[in-house]
Amino acid sequence: MNLPLFTTPNELSHYLQSHRSQSIGFVPTMGALHLGHQSLIDRARRENTLAIVSIFVNPLQFGANEDLDRYPRQLEIDRVICETAGIDALFVPTPVSMGINNTLTQVIPPPMMMSGLCGATRAGHFQGVATIVTKLLNIVQPDRAYFGEKDAQQLAIIRRIVADLNFPVDIIGCPTLRADSGLAHSSRNQYLSPTGRSQAAIIYHSLQQAQKLADLREVNTEKLLAAVTTALSTVPAFQLEYLAIVDPQTLQPIDKLNEPALLAIAGRIENTRLIDNIIIS
Ligand code: PAF
Repeated sequence: MNLPLFTTPNELSHYLQSHRSQSIGFVPTMGALHLGHQSLIDRARRENTLAIVSIFVNPLQFGANEDLDRYPRQLEIDRVICETAGIDALFVPTPVSMGINNTLTQVIPPPMMMSGLCGATRAGHFQGVATIVTKLLNIVQPDRAYFGEKDAQQLAIIRRIVADLNFPVDIIGCPTLRADSGLAHSSRNQYLSPTGRSQAAIIYHSLQQAQKLADLREVNTEKLLAAVTTALSTVPAFQLEYLAIVDPQTLQPIDKLNEPALLAIAGRIENTRLIDNIIIS
């Protein structure tokens, strides 16, 4: 295997020193790479002369009762995927080399962007994401960084941090990739049984009911949300955590659909937490 792999920020910085004249595309991940990641990687390769992927299961973004220990780890497979995709270097730092400890400086995004949606039940999650993404962007110093639109709240928060703190990087949001059933690709889909996977197709199917109603010129978001809830009720195995229509940038709830809006959902099937979203207009 020829793909260079670096395990500390210093090693990666040293490698990048001799590549700074190139345009650098960066795809931060937690590994367990799937087709969604692959589309980010392909775009990073197309739009830059050097493409870097990081794999780091970030302890800061997992709550005490979440799946940090169980989160899928498959470095050898991910390495082959990256090499086959033509990535130039892989960054797989250790927690120690990333300075993970109780006294690490934290990056705190605007509280109004963290309090709703996933933030309502995942205290500290977006602070953990913001802290690690800030570190990764400072280490790699890419021209462009690629994130999936499936994690819409994460993407909005990262865009806001980059704008507020003047990071010299373009944040590129990439469309969600879906299985034929409509289920969004996610590393956590690995936890689902075949039955669970087919039940989970209700998530995207339900979101589409809101767009169908919006196509008939319904602008009342209560009614749009009710259409989604009705469709979800056909699969009792899906336990809804939240369903909301919010402004895609500020993440604040909206009553009327005058502009394109983010329809976001989270819930559980077989105790696996799944999220998804669409833009409705
Ligand atoms: O989306 C993810 O995989 C993670 O939240 C990220 C952006 C790599 C930060 O750990």
